[in-house]
Amino acid sequence: MTQDRWTAVDTYLAGLFVPPDPALDGVLQSIAAADLPTISVSPNQGKLLFILAKAMGVRHVLELGTLAGYSTIWLARAVPPGGSVVTIEVDPRHAEIARANFARAGMADRIDLRVGAALDVLPGLAAGNAGPFDLIFIDADKVGYPDYLGWSIKLARPGALILADNVIRDGAVADPASKDASVLAVRRFNEMLANEPRVIATAIQTVGAKGYDGFAAFLVT
Ligand code: SAH
Ligand code: DHB
Ligand code: MG
Repeated sequence: MTQDRWTAVDTYLAGLFVPPDPALDGVLQSIAAADLPTISVSPNQGKLLFILAKAMGVRHVLELGTLAGYSTIWLARAVPPGGSVVTIEVDPRHAEIARANFARAGMADRIDLRVGAALDVLPGLAAGNAGPFDLIFIDADKVGYPDYLGWSIKLARPGALILADNVIRDGAVADPASKDASVLAVRRFNEMLANEPRVIATAIQTVGAKGYDGFAAFLVT
């Protein structure tokens, strides 16, 4: 079983479940045009975010790591009028491209894009009235994940769902000898999550067009 097969199956599934979509396809084109990293959630993962957000009946969503706004638009489409997605992006170039994508998707009115490092923006969210959030998607720099855990729980309402992308890292996460800073941070995140009394948590490994990775999912009690 190889990457080629995983990509072929993702293409097959996306062909079935994610029809062509000018706004979302436009985001992927904007990423290619600006030579941004191709690390957005896959179409099927984006649709899963949408389904989970719908199932939760979310009104207030928080995302860490916007890139060009692909996952943000999926989440924003699940939010009813009057609800919002706050999304945090450190790179002003990414943010500018995302902003244009939000407008083209007709979602600008319900997306609140904050440009800055998550650790600089999150205290302001906690102090202001942006939260509490019903769903939080952690997808920014992996080194920050241990810090993002505490902030996300603090900003979540009881019963909120929190998802953290990229917690498997090609399986490297199970290697206690890893010296990779991202792997070390994600290992620390997983350990903190497992020992966190305020959540009910699990993690799932996945394969697909983006390789071998996975996500953590946890409910705030
Ligand atoms: N969620 C997006 C992909 C995000 S990629 C999607 O699926 O469509 C990760 C993003 O996090 C990048 O754009 C990167 O610039 C941003 N990032 C990295 N470090 C960050 C930080 N400290 N605070 C906020 N964003 C950060
Ligand atoms: C990377 C980041 C992501 O959020 C992702 O989904 C895949 C890869 C990365 O930084 O390599
Ligand atoms: Mg990711």
